[in-house]
Amino acid sequence: MPEVEIQQDQEHLPTTLGTEFITKFYRLLKGTTLYDRNNSIIGRLTQECLPAVNSVIKSDTHLFLKIVRDNFYFNNIKIQIKTDKYAIFKGFLHEMRQRCIGEMEFTEEIKEEQLKDFAFLLSKLEDHNDSNYLYVGKQLENRGIQTISVGKLEFFKDDEIYVDSEDRKRQSKEVYFKSISLVKEVMESVKSQKMLNIRKAKRLMQNAVNAVIEDESTLLGLANIKNYDEYTFNHSVNVAIYAIALGQRIGIPKKHLSHLGMAAMFHDMGKVRIPKEILNKAGKLSPEEWAIMRLHPLAGAEIVMRMKEWGELSARMIHTTFEHHLKYDLSGYPRLARKRRISLFGRIVTLADFYDALVRPRVYNRFPFMSEKILGIMLDRSGKDFDPALVKVFINMIGVFPLGTLALLNTNEMGIVVQTQEDVDLIDRPKVNLIYYSDGEYRKGQVVDLREMDEKTGNFKRTIVKTLDPNEYNINVAEFII
Ligand SMILES: [Fe+2]
Ligand SMILES: [Fe+2]
Repeated sequence: MPEVEIQQDQEHLPTTLGTEFITKFYRLLKGTTLYDRNNSIIGRLTQECLPAVNSVIKSDTHLFLKIVRDNFYFNNIKIQIKTDKYAIFKGFLHEMRQRCIGEMEFTEEIKEEQLKDFAFLLSKLEDHNDSNYLYVGKQLENRGIQTISVGKLEFFKDDEIYVDSEDRKRQSKEVYFKSISLVKEVMESVKSQKMLNIRKAKRLMQNAVNAVIEDESTLLGLANIKNYDEYTFNHSVNVAIYAIALGQRIGIPKKHLSHLGMAAMFHDMGKVRIPKEILNKAGKLSPEEWAIMRLHPLAGAEIVMRMKEWGELSARMIHTTFEHHLKYDLSGYPRLARKRRISLFGRIVTLADFYDALVRPRVYNRFPFMSEKILGIMLDRSGKDFDPALVKVFINMIGVFPLGTLALLNTNEMGIVVQTQEDVDLIDRPKVNLIYYSDGEYRKGQVVDLREMDEKTGNFKRTIVKTLDPNEYNINVAEFII
């Protein structure tokens, strides 16, 4: 499967280039605190750093680094920090926090002297002055350097960060179920043409965004749980979770993340106009029924258009609702008379929607696909149905074995994936909660890390051999992950 290998190679690229840049730039920055400008060591460090900037600009036309808490985004893709580089990233983060600088961007190839200027400029900044970025901007302007810019480091309130993990989980669950009620409420009020309480919806969405940022694993876990009873509502909330999580990974700012969440949550709003018999039909849809089903993106856009309450959100929601079945190459529906580019939100929601629709069984799709199959299909349809850049980030996010996957190990043990690995190289080695059968039911055993090695043989202690369908074993995955 050569194609898959190429994809994986590319997957590493932002991490490799980003790590290279941070390593070299951090060295230079450290150098500026020890040596003066004309010292030969500074010359050498600058020359070593230069290609790490210019090669990225050559291939990607710009270099953009953003720090969010202790995560680094390199051209909008999160850098997976390798264990042996951890100290460098930590040191660099410390330097940047001290200077309140959280973003830097290079938009053209730079010269040695410019890079040196920039490094010294950063080096001499006052500690903890949050207008440092303005000062750097001015100074660069004075020196006629227009191709480098910096941004402020966003701070997060302490109470947002230090929350006890059980508390966090409880809050995440609460947000999830409140969102489900919200979707129900909105759908109902659309049907009965009642006024909506948009402010309440917006507040909830902000909480949901915070929850995904801070407790991604619980939320993704909740989204992965199969619930047959209330498919439409669960589906809407799940799509919002996947969309927010994906948006966060490509560096969409928080304010826009809540817009994205909202647009994602109501992408299927048009379904209120589709007759129940078609929506819930157990068998295959007839061509006529499909034709009606296909009206829901347009119907959704119309509904949103008439709802004045959404305000600034409205345009984005109309786009997303209208576009979510169009596909990347516009081969989907509705058919368009004129070519257009699908909005970023539309492209994100298309992926999230596809994944959630396939990962869970539903009335007109009775057999659940295993996640790895779906990711395979996504890769296969990348560039046709889906935006290829987003597919990569999405696959990386879900992992080969997403949370809640029931797996059979080579030791003949069974386990449920409870924590995925950040490191791309170890993506098939998550943490697994072993389960054992006793007294007529499955029970929780110990949590094992599949990265663990057997010292005697030098092999991994446990490896996943295949995934299993939890329904077949009557296992309620939810109990193990939340
Ligand atoms: Fe849809
Ligand atoms: Fe959908």
